[in-house]
Amino acid sequence: MSQQLGTLDELPEDYREDMTKAGVAPLWPMMRNVLPHGAPQPQTAAGYWNYDKIRPLLLRAGELTPVEKAERRVLVLSDPGRGVGAMQATASIYLGLQLLLPGETAPAHVHTPSAVRIVVEGKGGYTVVDGEKLPMEEGDLVLTPGGEWHDHGHEGEEPVVWLDALDLPLFYYLEGSYATEGPLQAQRNRPDASQVEYLAAGLAPTRRPGAGLRRYPMMRYPWARTEAALREVLAYGGDDIAELDYVNPETGADVLPTMGFTAMMLPAGTTHAPNLRSSSAAFHVIKGRGKTRINGEVFEWGPKDTFSAPVFAEITHEASEEAFLVRVHDRPLQDKLGYYEERER
Ligand SMILES: [Fe+2]
Repeated sequence: MSQQLGTLDELPEDYREDMTKAGVAPLWPMMRNVLPHGAPQPQTAAGYWNYDKIRPLLLRAGELTPVEKAERRVLVLSDPGRGVGAMQATASIYLGLQLLLPGETAPAHVHTPSAVRIVVEGKGGYTVVDGEKLPMEEGDLVLTPGGEWHDHGHEGEEPVVWLDALDLPLFYYLEGSYATEGPLQAQRNRPDASQVEYLAAGLAPTRRPGAGLRRYPMMRYPWARTEAALREVLAYGGDDIAELDYVNPETGADVLPTMGFTAMMLPAGTTHAPNLRSSSAAFHVIKGRGKTRINGEVFEWGPKDTFSAPVFAEITHEASEEAFLVRVHDRPLQDKLGYYEERER
């Protein structure tokens, strides 16, 4: 089973030519590439993006390219394993840093991939999803799920930057990625559902027979609440670190079909070495400093930095000060496909 398989070079030239003419190729020289033994061999390499280095480039994009010419003024965080320009940070996760300047809007549109914005800096930005206006404050997680109309606006006075995380690579691979544009949406004059129907954990609007639930009942997860919850879980949860998954408040399921989000709190001085996971991941630093070793490579990170890890990576975080991270991952997709797995180190 594990013996060396035959190579292309071992085959006679005339046979290879005849195969090419017939539009076929032998599987055996390529089989170990697509079906390696024991574990996948990811093309993805660990990545690190320093916000202090990217921020001036983003602001310069604001000077060089009016938003009408860019539509979305984004710098894409490319997987080092695929090279700069790759429209993905891991096999399944796309990441981009997006700039919106005061007074700018992004046209209303809908697309097949789902997106999440994690707000990096600035006040006054908002996203409208399905008529619901979602304020964007630092650290907030805002969903724009596939198939939901959305647009962005900015009522503040300073640049707003957020990190986009999308399942775009998957949709692109499936040849299912496209967008439709439309007129700006009418906004309902009310606070978002996190301030109304789902203000308190464990409480949801009374269920009435025949009343359909929204597929995405809550699309904004305010950071202040997440941080407060992490602090309590750390104090009383019995673990060295605190982790909370973002879930749909009606169903308890992951917030999106393919992507999952986990808020983490690491107290100063903690070392955390999780199991090897079959999911790939990106980590965004909300606050704090530390370093993370990923497959032997060490990244020192600070506030607003982002780093990524391929599948089955050996990851060890060390927080030098109290740190809050959001881990973006593809476990929900792998769960649905039936192969999510963790291995002990
Ligand atoms: Fe969008």
